[in-house]
Amino acid sequence: MITVSAPAKLNLTLDILGTRPDGYHEMKMVMQSVSLMDRVTLVPADSGGICAVSGLGFLPRDRKNLAVSAALAFYEALGQTPPSLLIDLEKNIPVCAGTAGGSSDAAAVLRGLNDLTGAGFPQEALAEIGARVGSDVPYCVLGGTRLAEGRGEVLTPLPPLPPCFIVLCKPAFSISTPVLFHAWDQKKKKLRPDTDGLIAALENGDLTGVAQRVYNVFEAVLPPNQRREIDRIKNALIQKGALGAAMTGSGPTVFGIFRKEATAKQAEEELREQYREVFLTYPV
Ligand code: C5P
Repeated sequence: MITVSAPAKLNLTLDILGTRPDGYHEMKMVMQSVSLMDRVTLVPADSGGICAVSGLGFLPRDRKNLAVSAALAFYEALGQTPPSLLIDLEKNIPVCAGTAGGSSDAAAVLRGLNDLTGAGFPQEALAEIGARVGSDVPYCVLGGTRLAEGRGEVLTPLPPLPPCFIVLCKPAFSISTPVLFHAWDQKKKKLRPDTDGLIAALENGDLTGVAQRVYNVFEAVLPPNQRREIDRIKNALIQKGALGAAMTGSGPTVFGIFRKEATAKQAEEELREQYREVFLTYPV
């Protein structure tokens, strides 16, 4: 049995460069993992195949769960028939939130099975197996501060985000990722994040420079009522002292970057009066 942590991911930037012949989109994103984590425990079993359990009854237990799909992909890469395995997911990352909870669980399964079986795949090989499971899984295998390009699987390490505190706030609606990509395809005038400027700020250790450049192109294609809610949370974070704020992934979680823990804590407490899912985190 083994327990592996699965950190949430944020998009400091999310840009779409175009569509691809395979139906996916060409991405350019700066990714950051944070201290909000699921815990994934792998328990070898005698029977029952590969099955995921969690405190959330609505999560699939079969291969529709990315954690199960990752275990199957792992044994396929290993050339072995999958044994029975219980994947126990302690869920702390909100579900369908743009924070890669499912992808991070999948990545944790790959790392955990690599240890448990002694397969000894290097990280890059695990990331490659992860790409068969979902576009965000390769990043989640590696974590840290990285530029993600291609479908999300072309990863370049970046200098770490300077020490800071990050407040996450998830409003109570969910957004379909394919619907957002479709809305982006239809949009004529497109605002773009200054990804290169953000990377230069990382290289200079300039937290303010990073925070001022966080931006996600999906914000511009949200339905108006959802966009208003996202803007309301972003404004609240800025008013409470965030150096910058943006939506992560395909949303709806919004994050704000703070220099001081006390300011971040105060913002977290105030947002919690209105929103149920609010978290104070730091980069990992
Ligand atoms: O790879 P994943 O299963 O996470 O992708 C979910 C959906 O998001 C895809 O079916 C596709 O519609 C969209 N997507 C995309 N381009 C990417 C990643 C995802 O169009 N680079």
